[in-house]
Amino acid sequence: MAKHWWQEVVVYQIYPRSFKDSNGDGVGDIRGIIEKLDYLEKLGIGAIWLSPVYQSPNDDNGYDISNYRSIMDEFGSMEDMDKLIAEADKRDIKVIMDLVVNHTSDEHQWFIEAKKGKDNPYRDYYIWKDPSENGGPPNDLTSMFSGSAWEFDEASGQYYLHLFSKKQPDLNWKNEEMRQSIYDMMNFWIDKGVGGFRMDVIDLIGKVPEEKILTNGPKLHDYLQEMHEATFGNHDLLTVGETMAVTPQTAKLYSNPSRKELSMVFQFQHVGLDKQKGKEKWDLKSIDIAELKEVLVKWQTELDGQSWNSLFWNNHDQPRIVSRWGNDQEYRVESAKMLAILLHMMKGTPYIYQGEEIGATGTPFSDISEIKDIESINMYHERLAEGYAKEEIIASINAKGRDNSRRPIPWNASRNGGFTSGTPWIALNENYKEINVEAALNNPNSVFYTYQKLIQLRKDHPIMVWGDFELVDTVDEVFSYYRMYNGERWLIVTNFSNEEQFFSSKEEIEEIIIQNTSDRVTTLKDITLQPWQAFVAKIK
Ligand code: NOJ
Repeated sequence: MAKHWWQEVVVYQIYPRSFKDSNGDGVGDIRGIIEKLDYLEKLGIGAIWLSPVYQSPNDDNGYDISNYRSIMDEFGSMEDMDKLIAEADKRDIKVIMDLVVNHTSDEHQWFIEAKKGKDNPYRDYYIWKDPSENGGPPNDLTSMFSGSAWEFDEASGQYYLHLFSKKQPDLNWKNEEMRQSIYDMMNFWIDKGVGGFRMDVIDLIGKVPEEKILTNGPKLHDYLQEMHEATFGNHDLLTVGETMAVTPQTAKLYSNPSRKELSMVFQFQHVGLDKQKGKEKWDLKSIDIAELKEVLVKWQTELDGQSWNSLFWNNHDQPRIVSRWGNDQEYRVESAKMLAILLHMMKGTPYIYQGEEIGATGTPFSDISEIKDIESINMYHERLAEGYAKEEIIASINAKGRDNSRRPIPWNASRNGGFTSGTPWIALNENYKEINVEAALNNPNSVFYTYQKLIQLRKDHPIMVWGDFELVDTVDEVFSYYRMYNGERWLIVTNFSNEEQFFSSKEEIEEIIIQNTSDRVTTLKDITLQPWQAFVAKIK
């Protein structure tokens, strides 16, 4: 496989609404991001994945786009955006745009036209169906945000499909002119110098709703190959598909280079392990480390040499990892560092979600009135009507709701963590006076410096990018593996638990590359790992 820049970098995801507010309206913005580029340069990242900044009525915080070629007023202007790309470029940071083309907002001009009637030239840009024989929706497909996926349009007597909120009508990818308009728009952004695209729910674009086929539809890969050719094919851009239902087999269809589709995909098998099998993410179950290991190892070994992995614990849809699978109480710092080391040492491109690098936690919500996210709000009402107790629903939201990781970044200990001089759109974590960026930067032992070091190690040691992966057989709670490259070997040892664990190896240490405890590891023979201990040893 040819080598690419996007295999060597670490990507940092910014959720603009919650990153940094520059004008006191309580909402983060592009100028706020520009203010913090020096901070990101210091961290060492090579690309920013920017969650959507396009014009949007914000039914789903920007994932409902009403104009792909203009910037949301709250976030700034196209001039600000151009400046962000240029300023990031000066620091060797590329900007990856969020490409949301499974659906638009119902306020997009195309949909406004489409609603005008069956003869409108834009009608077929969306998916319309007559009512079923009994007069109801065409079938029982449900929206990811609860309720039917079909919304009735009085004027035409037809239903339109929305796999997300009813303000997010699904585009009809069978329409060639629509596809061409999307490619033109992508080229508009490529011409601006962006570094690539993160493709929102891209595995849905080949859907056949009448047959209830949603992910991995028959034409999906034809569309992606067509897109590749029409847009980023001749540029070395990072393209990462959000693919909810992907397996290592199907991942290779998206990202084996010979197929000329995407650089890599996000798989979600590991973050689906703490739910009851066959149920929804709200139906909680604790994580089983043996299962987690099995899934992550499967991805490491099955893609090897054929496709490239993406590595992540967090994003704007997932709860904070240190609160989820780490210990955000007595071992917050240790477990956050251990999770970082475990992930960044695997083979693939690591993604950091804003705040992860300071070990940001979640803060429980106590009432639905504090929740902003449409997914949680709709689920709350649905489950309440089904007879669930309020407390149980709120517990699910606290464990899995998307607002957990959307709280603003605390930059310092001042009012509102220095995020805004106004009223933040959603409350900050209660602990922001202790856990904030300034405090992290001032403490040489903070989680920040572990992330910074991991990123620097990646730049200095090709083994971290290109080395082979091999699991070490241990007790479940210990997650240990080798990376191997050109005769060099690194042994990664992590304790994924609150208890001490036994570890032993015949190998001899040449050098400790990184560790999360203050006592230096000097031997690998019969050692007791402290709770959440992690280290990487170069082997003699
Ligand atoms: C996945 C995005 O990550 C999520 O935030 C959004 O709600 C849906 N796609 C719909 O665009």
